[in-house]
Amino acid sequence: MNPTILAIESSCDETSAAIIKKGKVLNNIVATQSVHENYGGVVPELASRAHQQNIIPVVDQALKEAKIDKTELDAIAFTKGPGLLGALLVGSSFAKSLAQGLNIPLIGVNHMQAHILAHFIDDPKPSFPFLCLTVSGGHTQIVLVKDHLDMEVIGETHDDAVGEAFDKSAKLLDLPYPGGPLIDKYASQGDGQAYTFPDSEMEGLNFSFSGIKTAFLYFLRDNLKKDKNFIKNNLNNICASLQFSLIRMLMGKLKKASNKLGIKEIAIAGGVSANSGLRNILTDMALENNWNVYIPEFQYCTDNAGMIAMTAHFKYLKSQFEDIKTSPDPRMKF
Ligand code: KG4
Ligand code: ZN
Repeated sequence: MNPTILAIESSCDETSAAIIKKGKVLNNIVATQSVHENYGGVVPELASRAHQQNIIPVVDQALKEAKIDKTELDAIAFTKGPGLLGALLVGSSFAKSLAQGLNIPLIGVNHMQAHILAHFIDDPKPSFPFLCLTVSGGHTQIVLVKDHLDMEVIGETHDDAVGEAFDKSAKLLDLPYPGGPLIDKYASQGDGQAYTFPDSEMEGLNFSFSGIKTAFLYFLRDNLKKDKNFIKNNLNNICASLQFSLIRMLMGKLKKASNKLGIKEIAIAGGVSANSGLRNILTDMALENNWNVYIPEFQYCTDNAGMIAMTAHFKYLKSQFEDIKTSPDPRMKF
């Protein structure tokens, strides 16, 4: 079976469409919503409206670039969850009507599972079982991946996601949303040891990022009292130190998971895996610990339909189709 599938992603603030044919992702069209920049976070209602504007042009472009006619499609895939309800509804309604109109199966995809399966778009591919640190704006998880569609969350955050910690800290620094990439940029010119922030003490393989967020708030407030230009004069070192602390927490638990399970196939996924500091430290840790490390290509780190298409391919092979009456699941689990 070598299906041709159109996949749609609309869980948060990127509207994306991709075509997969014979297991090969042919393209990955992404329309990013800049409307949220001035609000310090994604505004759900604005996201839904932007998805409505973007979805037809993005799907048209994906079909046109891949030189695929709608009648050649074997299935339509969409992100079922987790994500923002209104945003998910735009993608799922569109996918449902297209599948019904073409009389072909519908495939509902878990967004977090798709971030992990982005590793199967290109070579090298991890072998099973592997561990995946999934780090995004909404999630921070360590996942034991036993097969393409057989995954178990073995550690996760009890409060904020690490992407949220990046973005909320960036907001305190007066940087626009999303602040993660900007912290990364300034951090690359700073000293990660300039300031220290406390690690959280979470049991097992779980994380907590609310403590460092509060510590960061007090740190800025105290220093701004002494010097009103503290942020401006020390931005690179502040970003580097914050980033260093966040990465240290992630890496500590990842190493613990690897030791506990004796697994040396290690992957990262999700928007924060675009972070250059995280990528560098992971490469160093691979050498130290004899790990085979898998880091996705940049375009497949943040939200994209290529990963939804890849997951849909595996689900199609197992005939895991969705009823046409399906609805999105904003809190979808594996
Ligand atoms: O996976 P993603 O695109 O969307 C969600 O599913 O949440 O992840 C978005 C998150 C945001 O918090 C963004 O700030 C963060 O990924 N991010 C980064 C970088 N690029 C994106 N965080 C740190 N460094 C980066 N280079
Ligand atoms: Zn995501």
